[in-house]
Amino acid sequence: MMAKLALIGGTGVYDPDLLDSVTEETVSTPYGTVDISLGTLRGVEVVFMSRHGRGHTIPPHRINYRGNIWALKELGVTKVLSTAAVGSLNEAMQPGHFVALDQFIDFTKGRPLTFYDGEDGVVVHTDFTEPYCTSMRKVIQEAAAELDVKLHPRGCYLCTEGPRFETPAEINAFRLLGADVVGMTNVPEVVLAREAGLCYAAVATVTNLAAGISPAPITHTEVDEVMGRSFKRLGSLLMAVLGKLDPESSCSCTTPAREQEV
Ligand code: HPA
Repeated sequence: MMAKLALIGGTGVYDPDLLDSVTEETVSTPYGTVDISLGTLRGVEVVFMSRHGRGHTIPPHRINYRGNIWALKELGVTKVLSTAAVGSLNEAMQPGHFVALDQFIDFTKGRPLTFYDGEDGVVVHTDFTEPYCTSMRKVIQEAAAELDVKLHPRGCYLCTEGPRFETPAEINAFRLLGADVVGMTNVPEVVLAREAGLCYAAVATVTNLAAGISPAPITHTEVDEVMGRSFKRLGSLLMAVLGKLDPESSCSCTTPAREQEV
């Protein structure tokens, strides 16, 4: 099977139109079926997946993260580029800015978060010193520089359970913990990708200042509007990054450091 790239579109990125010769497919996984689009970009096969479903119908805590990552692995994907809409806790990161995530803090509460659930008696602890693929992050930075797109080269993403937005007290606490941006979906997606041996990187788009920093209440409409306004720049950045990635090149993400107990 030909190695492939994948693009997981978050809020505001629903359409595989960026790719050529797109076909729709349904993939069976142990976690249920997953709908994807398959297309090409300059001769390289790219799988497009809409994280919230095509019409944004799946809330963050109900996304089939394990099915999604399993499906990508099954299709021969080796590298996953994803997008995320985020609120900002860092005054340097303003609405419309892009951030190449480099760390996360997990504040989710009730999601299946691993492929290693222990049913087979195997306990696996995967290293997460570098949660996001460092070589993909370099490519994202290069592409942004070439396109003259403003991108923060690193940022710590705090993942909440959602689907509600945060309280100002939570945002204050998260800032003290070192978070730069807040969202609801990167965990467990990034975790499962590493467990599956896939390279994974995320470009976050700041859509709003976080609760209590923003002068107004936060709405999904505002998030959608800023994503809409940023889409042209984001789309060209994503295409440039995908165009620079070699699905065949090897990386330490494919053999993550693990400690196993049987
Ligand atoms: N909080 C959580 N998730 C988000 C936000 C936010 O402020 N903005 C976009 N996604």
